[in-house]
Amino acid sequence: MPNFQTWVSAHQQQFEEVLGLLLPAANIAPQTLHAAMRYSVLDGGKRVRPLLAFAAGELAGAQMHRVSLVAAAVECIHAYSLVHDDMPCMDDDVLRRGKPTCHVEYDEATALLVGDALQSLAFQLLSEPNLVADPLRQLKMLRLLAVSSGSRGMAGGQAFDLANVGKQINVSELEFMHIHKTGALIRAAVLLGAYCGDELSDEQLEKLDHYAKCVGLAFQVVDDVLDAEADTATLGKTAGKDADNDKPTYVTLLGVQEAKKMAAELHQDALQSLADFGDEAQRLRELADFIVQRKF
Ligand code: IPE
Ligand code: IPE
Ligand code: MG
Ligand code: MG
Ligand code: MG
Repeated sequence: MPNFQTWVSAHQQQFEEVLGLLLPAANIAPQTLHAAMRYSVLDGGKRVRPLLAFAAGELAGAQMHRVSLVAAAVECIHAYSLVHDDMPCMDDDVLRRGKPTCHVEYDEATALLVGDALQSLAFQLLSEPNLVADPLRQLKMLRLLAVSSGSRGMAGGQAFDLANVGKQINVSELEFMHIHKTGALIRAAVLLGAYCGDELSDEQLEKLDHYAKCVGLAFQVVDDVLDAEADTATLGKTAGKDADNDKPTYVTLLGVQEAKKMAAELHQDALQSLADFGDEAQRLRELADFIVQRKF
């Protein structure tokens, strides 16, 4: 088995090529919209959600080309959420993935449309004929991505985030917010990757689901910590933005030490839920380590 970093780099590189082909070319009309979509998706980001899909696909013995499509669908939703998250009506950020944000590089109307178009593209990719052999399973996958990104998932979490700027909320409300705005799509990435492969037992799926929920929540807890502790150059986005925007976060509510402790507990819980799997879950374990220990 190649080491984790080699596995990550190989998948990131291959995935970049896939994305480049799946996104409309910048010389096709409307050129500006297509260029802005490519600007927002390509050449940047850690690709954590796609890597989780590939790792879950490996667990289930899935074919790589199938997982690439679901990974691209999830990454399109994620990139759209970042473009909108950065707009002046939301977090009002000027830097993303080390580059000017989409609305700064282009304009606000274009950024809005980039989000709209990426969201549609995600569902187009997931509805690709014969993505998986069983059409009912594919419908289930489409539904999972829809729920995870809509008002009961990411968009709902974002609404809760904006509604609570400057407010004191309690830990369970904060957990609700993080599970929705970030956890839901990460969970979808894991499950969609697994659905590309052989059918898992209900018990195996439940364990995988629990893993996905733990790493999804841990991801945003660590994002909150990094916003408070890391610097802008390392993050590729403006550090200290949560405090500037008066956002309730795990850091404001619990402090950095407690937030880190919570991420460590979620990490252990995630690993525990994979205990009955063998080497086929190794990449998922390593990704849980990365998500909690990352520095950017
Ligand atoms: C940032 O996500 C937004 C959150 C949900 C916390 P990532 O940290 O995965 O951003 P990229 O894709 O690597 O830029
Ligand atoms: C964003 O959370 C979550 C989504 C984009 C859905 P943040 O607002 O904390 O993300 P960053 O820190 O700007 O990447
Ligand atoms: Mg935000
Ligand atoms: Mg933000
Ligand atoms: Mg953040």
